[in-house]
Formats: sequence, C-alpha cells, structure tokens
Amino acid sequence: MRKSLFIITLGLSLAACQSGQENSDAATIAEEPKPVFTPDYASLSERELPEWYNDAKLGIFIHWGLYSVPGWAKATELTLEETLAKDGARTWFMENPYAEWYYNSLRIDGSATAIHHKETYGEDFSYFDFVGDFNREIQKFNPDEWATTFKDAGAEYVVLTTKHHDGFLLWPSEQQNPFHENYYAGRDLVGELTEAVRSKDMRMGLYYSSGLDWTFNDQPIVDFQSLFTAIPQTEEYAKYIDNHWRELMQRYNPSILWADIGSPMVFNDFQLIADYYNQNPEGLVNNRHTARGLMGDTNNPAWFDFLTPEYTILDSISEKKWETCRGIGLSFGYNQREDVADFLSDEELIQSFVDIVSKNGNLLLNVGPRADGSIQEGQLRRLKALGGWLRSNGDGIYGTRPWTRAESKTAEGMEVRFTQKDGLLYMFILGTPEGTSLVIENLPEANGKEVRLLDGGRQLDASVDASGRLKINASESFTSSPVLGFSIKLQALAIISDFKDARFKRPVCACQSGCIFMPLAHNQSPS
Ligand code: GLC
Repeated sequence: MRKSLFIITLGLSLAACQSGQENSDAATIAEEPKPVFTPDYASLSERELPEWYNDAKLGIFIHWGLYSVPGWAKATELTLEETLAKDGARTWFMENPYAEWYYNSLRIDGSATAIHHKETYGEDFSYFDFVGDFNREIQKFNPDEWATTFKDAGAEYVVLTTKHHDGFLLWPSEQQNPFHENYYAGRDLVGELTEAVRSKDMRMGLYYSSGLDWTFNDQPIVDFQSLFTAIPQTEEYAKYIDNHWRELMQRYNPSILWADIGSPMVFNDFQLIADYYNQNPEGLVNNRHTARGLMGDTNNPAWFDFLTPEYTILDSISEKKWETCRGIGLSFGYNQREDVADFLSDEELIQSFVDIVSKNGNLLLNVGPRADGSIQEGQLRRLKALGGWLRSNGDGIYGTRPWTRAESKTAEGMEVRFTQKDGLLYMFILGTPEGTSLVIENLPEANGKEVRLLDGGRQLDASVDASGRLKINASESFTSSPVLGFSIKLQALAIISDFKDARFKRPVCACQSGCIFMPLAHNQSPS
C-alpha cells in the first residue's frame, strides 16, 4: 500500500515536470484507489504503521496550561509505577507529583497542594482565576525558540497538550466551554507552535484529554474507582470532544491524535480514527482513545498504532510499536519544586533512550514550560546533552529497527543494546568501558566482520573467540560518553529486516481492549 502511494506521488511530480504528457499520465495514475477506512476494528487494523514514526525515535511532549502558573506539586522521589506498587493509588492522588493535576490535588482536603494554594493565593482565589495570569504571561512566548530547542535536541516530532484535564483550551475554538466564559488561551498556541515546528521539518502531534474534563465533572479523583467515574458519560460531552477533535484535525492536520484517559462510552472512537486515517494517511493514534475494555465492554477491542507506557520501559522487544512518555523529572507540568537534582541525569536519559529504541520503542520526552514559555535551565541542559549525543550517534538510532535480540553484556557486566539498519548492526555500551579493550558476550555473528566506532568511524581491531565473545582492541582509551556506539558490518548476514517474528510476539498489553493509563492497565482493575 505504501509503495503504491509513493509511486503515485512520484508519478504525479514527474508528470508535472513533463509538459505535454502530464494530463494523460496523471489521470491514469490518479485512478488508483486510495485505501478507505471504515469505523470498525477489522478495517482499522488493516492499517500499517507509518514509517516516519517508526524512524523518528524521539518526540518532545509539552504540558502547558493554567497549571503552569502555580507550577507546583509535592516533590517525590518515586515514579508513578513505584508509588502505585509501594503505597497504592490513594497516596498517588493525594500527593500527586504531576503538577498538571494541580486542580485535582487542590480539591482533596489536606493535600499538600490545598495547603500551598491557601497559603500562597488565599482561600478565595480559585483555579479559574489563573486564566488572567496565563493569558498575560503567554504574550512573551516565542514558538520559534521552542522549535529550535527541540530540533537541536534531535527530536523528529512534537506533541502539545491542547486541552488537559482542567478543560482549558490552547486554541481559539468555535466550540466554547459551556461552564466558563472565555476559557481558552489568548493566542492560538496550537497553531503558532504547529507552524514553527513544521518550519523546522518536524511533525506536529496533538494531545487532547478526551476522558477527563473537570469542568464537566468536578468530582475529585482520589483512587482508580473515582478516576473512572470522573469520565463524563453524557451525550453532550461526547459531542463536545468530537467537535474539538474534528476542529483540531481540520485546522492543524496533526500527525498524531494523542488522546488521554479514554472517552465516554457513547463516544465513537472508531469513527474518529477512520475519518482521521482517511484524511491523513500518515497520521497515528495512541492507545488511550477509549476506556471501553476497562469499563467491561470486551467485544470491541480498541484500535491503536502504538502503546504509551508512562514512566515505564518494556523489558523486551515488542512487535507492537510503543512510546514511553515521561518528564525529565517526575512531573509533566512545570513544577517549581523540582530542580536539576530531581531530573534524570544525562547518562540516565541517554541510556534509557537507547534501551527503548532497541526494543522497538520511541521516547516522548516531556518538557514543562513556565506560563511565559520559558523552560527551566536544567531541562534545557538535558535536551542539549541528548542532542549532542545524537549528532555523533544518530546513525544507529534514527531509521533503525530492532535486531534479533535487544540485549547483551560485556564481560565486566556493562549493559549492551543493539539496533540494526541497512546491513549494519549497531551496538551500544551503556557507559564508557575502562581501558582500551572490551569483550562482549554472545556475539558470534560478528565473526570476521568490520567493527567501527560510531562517533568518528574509526575501525577497530576485533575478533570473535571460540565461545562467541567479541573482543575489541581500541589501542587507546575510549572517549567518555553516556553510551558508546559501534557499528558492525554484517551485510545481509543474520539481519532480519522484517522482525515480525514469532520470538517478538507477546501480548500487546493485558487490556487488549483499551488502555488508558499504563500501570493501571497492566496491574490493577478499577474496582
Ligand atoms: C496521564 C496523566 C497526565 C499526563 C499523561 C501523559 O494520563 O493524567 O497528567 O498528561 O498521562 O502521559
């Protein structure tokens, strides 16, 4: 299917250059039918993953909204999954480190956020009073600066929150909030950023919280039970979100529809996705468009292009494409209480990125800007480090696919990861080995093959011993790097270009029928 589209495009451009023939050629070629998707699982699942997304590997997520004004959440040292495992969901919601959940935390009596809010703004200052501050601050925002920063970090796509759970819109919609007047940004932040991102040759995806909108249901969420009952189930709300999605599609033609926390049971996610695919053959949807499966309807499995484990990395190669999303710290929205010490180190960031890519994942790395659009220095430093590393090692990342296996170790126990592309096997040591030589366990495929350092391309003396261990002699110390990359020329040998292989088939996720929140989907049930 992809090939024929390519041929059509190529055909049309050639035809346009050759006057005289253009009409007849174009007419013949244009007659090839375009795939038309219908609103059902069988049709949607015919869809192949658009290559651009598989090649891209790195996206930047942006959580920006009213919550960026107070920019405050209880600082914690545990990730979502760790807190759920250790203290359970009630603790998570009470002490929520996600600053974009400010309005929910505020409504939980005795929470750190409720105390902070009262002390800082007084009892009578409501969350909705932040609209004025936000709309004043965003006047300072420069979308081109963001686009340059993200491009320099090595990102190939960007995903912006257009509406988070507080219901505030970052674009001037025709479909206004029925409960709060002028409840939207005073600039078209979605449109301006989309244009800036595209001008730097990156793709633009849009996040929209279909499941939660606290202006439609302001019952505080304190556990998973109330997370589910907080999803507004009215026809009115379903229509509201449908109008918004369609407006976003028409105005901005996004490359990803990134939904969150499912949607009302009456919402027709299949229809939305089919219409979207028919409009944008290169567009993708994530796995959080419906909560149907978790609400007990297991007859209509959810359709999605990729999974979204949050603050989680899958532990082996998954045939189904996936994308880890996470903040540089432990919040998505700006949290003034977090600083460099709470952020991933350069090593942790780059090593986890390589780990993700080796297992068929992408990384959607979040930045949480302040209301005025400025980004914390510590977050900028991490983006720079990632971009710098990618400039020397990106050949082994962009456009690659998983190899027959993702992992090995050095004789000293350092972690090793693999990717592959065009007859080259890429090998990454997570860290810098000491000394001038290196032994990698279980790599008989490298026997007699050319081994080079990825950064600079220097060929190294390498051999494989009788037990299949690859021995590399660099003759000088390795330059210190968070991840040291190598290329090994395997030509066609042992490379499987299509890794749709029985070895990588594992359940897509425990809740085939719809995930809205990864740890919940895997480990808990809503009751
Ligand atoms: C969760 C959170 C949310 C964050 C999102 C990012 O669903 O509710 O605050 O936007 O995941 O993945």
